[in-house]
Amino acid sequence: MPSVQPPNVDSIDPTLDLFAEIDRLRAERKAVILAHYYQDPDIQDVADHLGDSLDLAKRARDAKDADVILFCGVHFMAETAKIVNPAKTVVLPDLAAGCSLAEQCPADKLRTFKAQHPDHYVVMYINCSAATKAEADIICTSSNAAKVIASVPADRPILFGPDKNLGAFLIKQTGRKMDLWPGACMVHETFSSQKIAALKAAHPDAKFIAHPECEEHVLALADFVGSTSKLLAYVQQDATPKYIVGTETGILHTMKKHAPGKQLIPVPYEDRTAACQGCNACPHMKLNTIEKIYLALRDLEPRIEMPAELRERARLPLDRMLAIR
Ligand code: 13P
Ligand code: SF4
Repeated sequence: MPSVQPPNVDSIDPTLDLFAEIDRLRAERKAVILAHYYQDPDIQDVADHLGDSLDLAKRARDAKDADVILFCGVHFMAETAKIVNPAKTVVLPDLAAGCSLAEQCPADKLRTFKAQHPDHYVVMYINCSAATKAEADIICTSSNAAKVIASVPADRPILFGPDKNLGAFLIKQTGRKMDLWPGACMVHETFSSQKIAALKAAHPDAKFIAHPECEEHVLALADFVGSTSKLLAYVQQDATPKYIVGTETGILHTMKKHAPGKQLIPVPYEDRTAACQGCNACPHMKLNTIEKIYLALRDLEPRIEMPAELRERARLPLDRMLAIR
């Protein structure tokens, strides 16, 4: 990821109504605002479309009428939007919004693995850079990973990366043996199974639902495991009145809206220091703010750009994923 100056939010006139300005600029720029469920509530509320990684990649690909895609999520998501719809101007409110998984699987290390294991079919979770995607045979998200694994020729050994927790979950779910890249999400790996077990005991009428980026000992306690959109659908459709929600805290905002009668308890995490370095809020997702969204729409910066050759190589494994129904 490029190192860049943070957006200059101090330059914003404090008397501006930023929500009105965002609406004005959205129309003027013919922009569509896409947001992930882990964004702050204010951002979720100004978005044109909210979704999980797969929904948002499809929304970006299908954004025919917009000139600009303002992506409220993290860098790999905005990069994906540019790859699948290169004619659009794609802006990310803060270019520093990265992802621990993407950081842990740089393209040169993956190339080295491939050189040593030329038979492996490389399935990469979408949480990786464009350069890493360009090395993959196919991409998946947590919504479609089992279907993607099922599409891999039976005679090929699989490397799954960068999330070893999602990978371990998929081995159980699909029965397919895979080598796992040793990456993990810095947010989901802080969730404490001991504290979750205590919370379950205190709320015996609650179900525990979890994202597959959680570690195995946490998933072992779950009544349901799924991507963000599947967790949301589960809370809406299931009859239970109470849920302990094992994923990033931003999704509670949308869950409360769509399942207003349900009681939602955020997952307890392990405080790793007194200052809490472990937390259920993603520090990367939370870099985006309403102020930075306003600046991004006003200035059409910071933009996601990449060489055409890289974009085209990264598009192939994404298109293979998007062709799977
Ligand atoms: P979903 O695709 O389930 O939304 O997961 C996204 C993600 O990993 C962001 O952390
Ligand atoms: Fe990456 Fe984890 Fe943040 Fe998702 S929650 S963007 S996987 S660091």
